[in-house]
Amino acid sequence: MLQVAISVLSLVLGSGVPLAAQSNHAKSLAPFVPSPITVVERMLEAAQVKQGETVYDLGCGDGRVLITAVEKFHAKAVGVELNQRLADAARGAIKQRGYENRASIIQGNLLEVDLSSADVVTLYLLTESNSQLRPNLEKYLRPGARVVSHDFEIRGWKPVRVEEVQAHRRMHKIYVYEVGKK
Ligand SMILES: C[S@@+](CC[C@H](N)C(=O)[O-])C[C@H]1O[C@@H](n2cnc3c(N)ncnc32)[C@H](O)[C@@H]1O
Repeated sequence: MLQVAISVLSLVLGSGVPLAAQSNHAKSLAPFVPSPITVVERMLEAAQVKQGETVYDLGCGDGRVLITAVEKFHAKAVGVELNQRLADAARGAIKQRGYENRASIIQGNLLEVDLSSADVVTLYLLTESNSQLRPNLEKYLRPGARVVSHDFEIRGWKPVRVEEVQAHRRMHKIYVYEVGKK
């Protein structure tokens, strides 16, 4: 099922090669499976994104979280994406809407990005990938920053809330975390 979704998306984006197989030298931490827009909206609502805050989507795919953060929550947004074609697609989506002043893309490995300016971090990776990322979240995020993860928990962290959203014929989980005082 997941493989079919990946192959279809690869074809849509103009290549017969599955996206998950394409990368530069960094390791892919998750295949491209976009979050349904309903889930994206609930993630940003659950994180209580406020006007002017900065949202980082780590593994931003086609940029839908960034676009929603800018359009509906009047936030600034930064996406990090390993896959060059997805990064280009996300940049294109931002440009098409004239959001260049409020949203940007870093093409590269999400494990190597300074997150110190993030108020909110959104994730749709895998549990093991979240475990690899966790030291950086602990290193960079300020007290009060929120992390929301679609479907996959951050092991060793206690969520302040777990929400469930019905979309695309299944229930999606949203784990909401808040960084406490250090
Ligand atoms: C499940 S998709 C989520 C896309 C988007 N965040 C959403 O919720 O719709 C995971 C994304 O992470 C990207 N990714 C995987 N490993 C990465 C890495 N090491 N650095 C940056 N992006 C990565 C994939 O290319 C893919 O686009």
